[in-house]
Amino acid sequence: MKNLSYEFVLRRLATILSVAIISLSVMAAVTGVLLSFYYEPVAGRAYQSLNWIDTEIINGLLIHSIHDLAGNALIVTALIQIVVMFLGREFRLSWLTAWVSGILLALTGIGLSWTAIILDWSQVGYWRFRIELSTIEAIPVIGGSLRNILTGGGAVNTTTVAHLYTIHSYLLSVGAIALAIIHLWGLLQQEKEMKGNAIKAAAKAEQLQQSFSQTLS
Ligand code: HEM
Repeated sequence: MKNLSYEFVLRRLATILSVAIISLSVMAAVTGVLLSFYYEPVAGRAYQSLNWIDTEIINGLLIHSIHDLAGNALIVTALIQIVVMFLGREFRLSWLTAWVSGILLALTGIGLSWTAIILDWSQVGYWRFRIELSTIEAIPVIGGSLRNILTGGGAVNTTTVAHLYTIHSYLLSVGAIALAIIHLWGLLQQEKEMKGNAIKAAAKAEQLQQSFSQTLS
């Protein structure tokens, strides 16, 4: 009985967290699109454009803050979800789907946060990005090419901002939404399967009880 309620709590918690994850992804995507109306992915202009959004645009600061909050909350929630799913592991296909999509989603969230480092073109972002680029460059064989792809030629300039903005706003954000949908679907499927199994087990127990009482009478 204790085991059953423990499993039930973990299963429900995973489903609730997956609903939170999909809501946070949609919230980040919608506010991201709203930011893009005024954001300029240009070195030297990006900082001013975000500042302009915060100070001059109606509800700009609110939209910017929701985007930052939802984006970071998505990463935290996706990481908590991995722990919850690990504790309540169930080796069935629906669980595997949710498990794999959950891990990929957490990685995508981290990728979104990483690609945003340079988007505000602040001193902190610029130098942090330069340091992390040198780490990437140190990766054997692919390091140099990876640096060139990310920066768009090697130097950190407007092309770099444009590249990371494209990766952030088109590739990773669409990936995050797709993964969040797959993740929720996997967990709902698991709930359905487990509910079906519980009903079958209850019917079998009732059948056994009936045949037992028939044997006795
Ligand atoms: C699932 C969708 C998305 C997620 C999870 C996400 C997440 C994030 C995160 C974590 C940050 C860094 C926040 C920080 O400073 O701590 C960020 C910044 C940013 N994102 Fe997104 N994002 C998403 C979609 C988009 C889209 C669709 C756009 C534009 C079309 C966009 C534009 C931006 C911009 C301009 C910034 C820089 C703002 C700043 O540095 O404060 N994002 N995003």
